Amino acid sequence: MMNGVVSRERSRELYRRACELMPAGVNSPVRAFRSVGGEPLFIRRGVGAHLEDEDGNAYLDCCGSWGPLILGHGHPTVLTAIEEALAEGLTYGAPHKGEIALAELVTAAYPAVEMLRFVSSGTEAVMSAVRLARGFTGRDLIVKFTGCYHGHADALLVEAGSGLATLGIASSAGVPAGAVADTRLLPLDDEARVEALFAREGGRVAAVLVEPVPANCGLLLQRPEYLRFLRAITERHGALLIFDEVISGFRIGMGGAAARYGVRPDLATFGKVIGGGMPVGAFGGRREIMSRLAPLGPVYQAGTLSGNPIAMAAGAATLRALAAEGVHERLESLGARLEERVAPVASATGSGFARIGSIFWLVAQSALPRTFEAVRADAMQRYAAVHARLLAGGVYLAPSGWEVAFLSHAMDVQDVDRLGMALVDAITAD
Ligand SMILES: Cc1ncc(COP(=O)(O)O)c(C=O)c1O
Repeated sequence: MMNGVVSRERSRELYRRACELMPAGVNSPVRAFRSVGGEPLFIRRGVGAHLEDEDGNAYLDCCGSWGPLILGHGHPTVLTAIEEALAEGLTYGAPHKGEIALAELVTAAYPAVEMLRFVSSGTEAVMSAVRLARGFTGRDLIVKFTGCYHGHADALLVEAGSGLATLGIASSAGVPAGAVADTRLLPLDDEARVEALFAREGGRVAAVLVEPVPANCGLLLQRPEYLRFLRAITERHGALLIFDEVISGFRIGMGGAAARYGVRPDLATFGKVIGGGMPVGAFGGRREIMSRLAPLGPVYQAGTLSGNPIAMAAGAATLRALAAEGVHERLESLGARLEERVAPVASATGSGFARIGSIFWLVAQSALPRTFEAVRADAMQRYAAVHARLLAGGVYLAPSGWEVAFLSHAMDVQDVDRLGMALVDAITAD
């Protein structure tokens, strides 16, 4: 299914129509292919490990809808769960047992989450967690790190990686200075800078917010002791530690980065995999903190479609399948196989290959960075050619060098070997 691409005529025509109706023809900016200099493909369907575009070209899908599709497209048990839920109606605006089922799966897998609330996106999850942290501590400052993306809430749109890095935007227009006045920005991987900030204003810090597996500025794998340091210093100063596990949650293992690194955050946020491809986010943590949410407490947070029954069913079926089908173990072995094939060639040609479980990142510099500041500007320019070659050969990667790629459970060993060969060809073609 990784045939050479024949025509993109139909996609081109649809793109022209879409551009008349929606800015750059898309509903999320990185989809527009601007940073790789091409035009987006219009997708007709996703089946298993593959996407098919409107011209009938098939691609091995390493974007996975930007992370949710750990099981691939249309996993049978997820589809069955959705069909069963559909038969009972689309939304009730009232409690239902599907919410309990997904909440039980999350709390069982992630011990730091004693209680949680469902929302409809990762952005909402983080925005709500930040408000709750401020309401709980009675403090205003939020510490975030350059290159970490936490959705598009005003207060967090500073040096935020993802689409902003892709488009070269430090912060968004339309965010008033007041909205970010209580956001403190630090580089990752630097204990001294965090110490200095806490020495200055520790008593005002409500929370340190971090992607424990930063995956919006490439894949900036952190030292476990750095994450443990963040746990210790927040505790010492009465601030909360929020792990944004929107990408890493249920992706690198059932217990996310918290289990992987043995660090227990006060609050954690989820999205992507937790909804199995439907719009779901969640934030949760210590019971004492979560009990401050309305209507139990004074921190307001709400949502018309939160806990949507179809979305809950898709999420629960996904989390059950992850455990029942040994998905993380299988993806680890597929990931290791890919790494064995690609990493040596990458390092021999001045590139780098970073990986954790089924998340990987190819970067045109040999030293794997741990911070946004350590990513070389020219590394991104080389990505456009690699991306174009892979796309022409039937491999769909995110259209930005700042974005990571994903393996899915729908891939088999042959898919991964073909992917390995395509990556090797693409990086050695110059
Ligand atoms: C770590 C992280 N947090 C938050 C978000 C925002 O999630 P959403 O796009 O569902 O609003 C993202 C999205 O990519 C993310 O990667």
